[in-house]
Amino acid sequence: MANPSILILAGDGIGPEVMAEVKKVITWMGVKRGVHFDVSEDLVGGCAYDVHGKPLADETMAKAQAVDAVLLGAVGGPKYDKLDFSVKPERGLLRLRKEMDLFSNLRPAQCFDALADFSSLKKEVVAGLDIVIVRELTSGVYFGEPRGIFKEGNERVGINTQRYTESEIARVARSAFELARKRSNKVCSMEKANVMESGILWREVVQEVHDREYPDVALTHMYADNGAMQLCRWPKQFDVIVTDNLFGDVLSDMAAMLTGSLGMLPSASLGNPMANGRPKALYEPVHGSAPDIAGQGKANPIACILSFAMALRYSFDLGEDATRLEKAVEKVLADGVRTADLMGPEGGKPVSTAEMGDAILAALDASL
Ligand code: IPM
Ligand code: MG
Repeated sequence: MANPSILILAGDGIGPEVMAEVKKVITWMGVKRGVHFDVSEDLVGGCAYDVHGKPLADETMAKAQAVDAVLLGAVGGPKYDKLDFSVKPERGLLRLRKEMDLFSNLRPAQCFDALADFSSLKKEVVAGLDIVIVRELTSGVYFGEPRGIFKEGNERVGINTQRYTESEIARVARSAFELARKRSNKVCSMEKANVMESGILWREVVQEVHDREYPDVALTHMYADNGAMQLCRWPKQFDVIVTDNLFGDVLSDMAAMLTGSLGMLPSASLGNPMANGRPKALYEPVHGSAPDIAGQGKANPIACILSFAMALRYSFDLGEDATRLEKAVEKVLADGVRTADLMGPEGGKPVSTAEMGDAILAALDASL
């Protein structure tokens, strides 16, 4: 049988630096675990614009459609801020999500014991936190038509449209309920049904899918603004949260910070199963390209490494190796290894991106 295939799109800013550490883990998997991947690489974001004049070439899109999993670093940077909207680095990422139909975006927010002091919230509020936000990723206001900046009389008007079909809501709801069954069997759905018709429909459809197919899962509904407040007040009341594209964008950044560092959080964007049974999938850290520290070896590679762990679990059925990798990260943190973003007030000497990667490899070795 052919090796499973991976397309690496390291992207801009710190993307290539953190991805270099993931490549070490991929190599380790071959040497030490006998699991070999066919790895190819290509460009996305600003670096693709520099070469092709657009943030994602058609050939790259075709490659992404053909592989078993895409690993993405980060896109964007100040150099590209003035580009026309249609060729901004972010458009490359949005095209991948849309054309691969990656409707279910899993964003876990897990607080590692060793980092419970790092949150801006009290330790008891975040210690042991382990929740997942399931964000709808291919529809809603990110893609709805009409959109644009138009002239109306003698002023301009900016328009975006929040649009959800029943089937779009139902499929992401299903993925949240399926995930909940593997966890604590609890889902909270968030929208603004008090002010938005799309929110009313969202609430109804999530409830219908629940009643018809997942009556065993405990389902609650919450307005998204209250949800934001509750996430700060007592995040441990949640397990799986399902929400739309825009609320999911905002709430997942918030949830990320609860854990102390945006540099820690992975994500998986999953679509429908392909012919080989694997879901269409793209894995990426939640953090961005961090241009302020790019090229300095300061970035924390953990979010990208944990994204690869999610790939092992969701694309390659290697749950044991995924757990092994997650445990290795936990071990390294417990040992006090820290990149600059994880330095507490007590100070100390931060390790570099590569040193963090090497420490994780050493912990992997020790796990065998
Ligand atoms: C995210 C990011 C993206 C989004 C940007 C880079 C387009 O913020 O993945 O959360 O808004 O979805
Ligand atoms: Mg975001």
